[in-house]
Amino acid sequence: MPVHDVVIVGGGGAGLRAAIAVAEKNPSLSIALVSKVYPMRSHTVAAEGGAAAVIKDFDSFENHIYDTISGGDWLVDQDAIELFVKEAPNEMIQMEHWGCPWSREPDGTVAVRPFGGMKKERTWFASDKTGFHMLHTLFQTSLKYSSIVPYDEWFATKLLVEDGRCQGVAALDLRTGRLEVIAGRSVVICTGGAGKVFPFTTNGAIKTGDGMSLAYRARVPLKDMEFVQYHPTGLPGTGILITEAARGEGGILVNSEGYRYLQDYDLGTPLDVTDPNHPVKKSMELGPRDRLSQAFIHEQKKGRTIKGKFGDVLHLDVRHLGEKRIDSKIPFVRELAKKYAGIDPVYEPIPIRPVLHYFMGGIDTDITGATTLPGLYAAGEVACVSINGANRLGSNSLTELLVFGARAGLAAADFALNQPPVDLAPLRKQVVDEDARITRAYLTKSGGTERISTIRTEMRDTMEEGAGIYRTDEGLKATCDKLAELRERFANISLDDRSFTYNTELISVLELDAMLDVAEVVAHSALARKESRGSHQRTDFPKRDDESYLRHSMAYRGEGSPRIDYKDVVITRWPPGERVYGQEQSK
Ligand code: FUM
Repeated sequence: MPVHDVVIVGGGGAGLRAAIAVAEKNPSLSIALVSKVYPMRSHTVAAEGGAAAVIKDFDSFENHIYDTISGGDWLVDQDAIELFVKEAPNEMIQMEHWGCPWSREPDGTVAVRPFGGMKKERTWFASDKTGFHMLHTLFQTSLKYSSIVPYDEWFATKLLVEDGRCQGVAALDLRTGRLEVIAGRSVVICTGGAGKVFPFTTNGAIKTGDGMSLAYRARVPLKDMEFVQYHPTGLPGTGILITEAARGEGGILVNSEGYRYLQDYDLGTPLDVTDPNHPVKKSMELGPRDRLSQAFIHEQKKGRTIKGKFGDVLHLDVRHLGEKRIDSKIPFVRELAKKYAGIDPVYEPIPIRPVLHYFMGGIDTDITGATTLPGLYAAGEVACVSINGANRLGSNSLTELLVFGARAGLAAADFALNQPPVDLAPLRKQVVDEDARITRAYLTKSGGTERISTIRTEMRDTMEEGAGIYRTDEGLKATCDKLAELRERFANISLDDRSFTYNTELISVLELDAMLDVAEVVAHSALARKESRGSHQRTDFPKRDDESYLRHSMAYRGEGSPRIDYKDVVITRWPPGERVYGQEQSK
């Protein structure tokens, strides 16, 4: 029977960083690292552009803090962001010491590139495969510790709560189909976001909101879930990310008339690039992502988009950078555009459209990663601590998973050290019940008329339609109703595959169950927030309303629909103001 001290669910960047933190803190602690895929297939691997941390003399902590607060439209907790910004450089240097191959300047110092909404260049990168290199670095470092026990290809279906504490998970071993207890004196959820709730996303197929749903079902609130981020430059069809680094290196956005349309929109003051050799000195393309994605919709309405095989697109043009710079700074962009859009960006512009990229909201945690359930912690995209507010700035999330992955690991280790040993008997009983639930709902039931793919497609379409870039009361209500209908129809799914070995159909239905939870929470939280802030744009309430809504939404699982409540944002030194980019903060 697998019994450990700390159970970490999710083997991506945050999970690995948490595991290393626990192992370093106390070698006697046994750590279960439970992942539904092999850790190197976690979505962190797909991150491209870079990770933000202040390192250059021309920058300051104050700048990074202020950029993030104003970028997040003041919904950022200021104690959390201050701590994050100050710990960020140490984590990045630690990564260097573990072998992360950060790109360098000609003089050997760490290179940084401009990124959206950041007024100074502070995004560290490893070419344009930053997530790949970070994940490799964390994974190979984790292998040093024999106290980290991998459970690769195990799918957690339930949190085991006993005596008012989280004491492990019920997890399905995909190889055998057996549901087992994986017990621990504390649990850390690091399962990433839920981009697959939407039809067009940069997210890999595995990002189905499993961890958010696990916590929600254990009555832990999900915070600020209405704030979902569209990245302005995804490839049409696949949704594959064309990194913001393409614009950071000087790429421009143009419409069907070849016009640099962003000059027509209020994006804040353009970024002043410090590097005298950079191809652009001021870049409107480096405005915040929410506003760039909104500009796409306006261009579409004005009839200035381009019809493509997969719907309307605009163009990202990097031709003026030249082949040498493209191949040295953004080689992966070239590779992806050739393979998935059939064009070579050295000679042709890249077709792009906004695609769902990131969940700012997630499991409500404090700055140690602790949730409201004793013994349960969360970090990374699955969590909302909250440093991203209503709109995350590009390149803060890779750093977030380091800073808060480490903090959650340390706090979970401390908690575990102060708890009595786990009593397995009641946990076993819970797993027997959970096994019976899954068997009854999916493996022995027949005659159901619904298909997984039909419900999944309809869920995604209604999310894009009602809870996409622009929202209205009417559209959100229609989406909430549709999701309630889909939840009822979900009960009528039967599976074709009844086998125990790698039953991927069973995993798909468990993932869909989680996605329906997340979709419902997003739509209901969005319906309740009657203002526009960051990525949450209500055409019926177009103004930000600090009086009523400078508050985090908190979604609790109810009997039917989620119950939405609110809690205050932590404001310390930066009173709410206008979102302005490119203004120097006093040090
Ligand atoms: O465009 C990008 O490379 C994305 C980065 C991020 O989301 O932080």
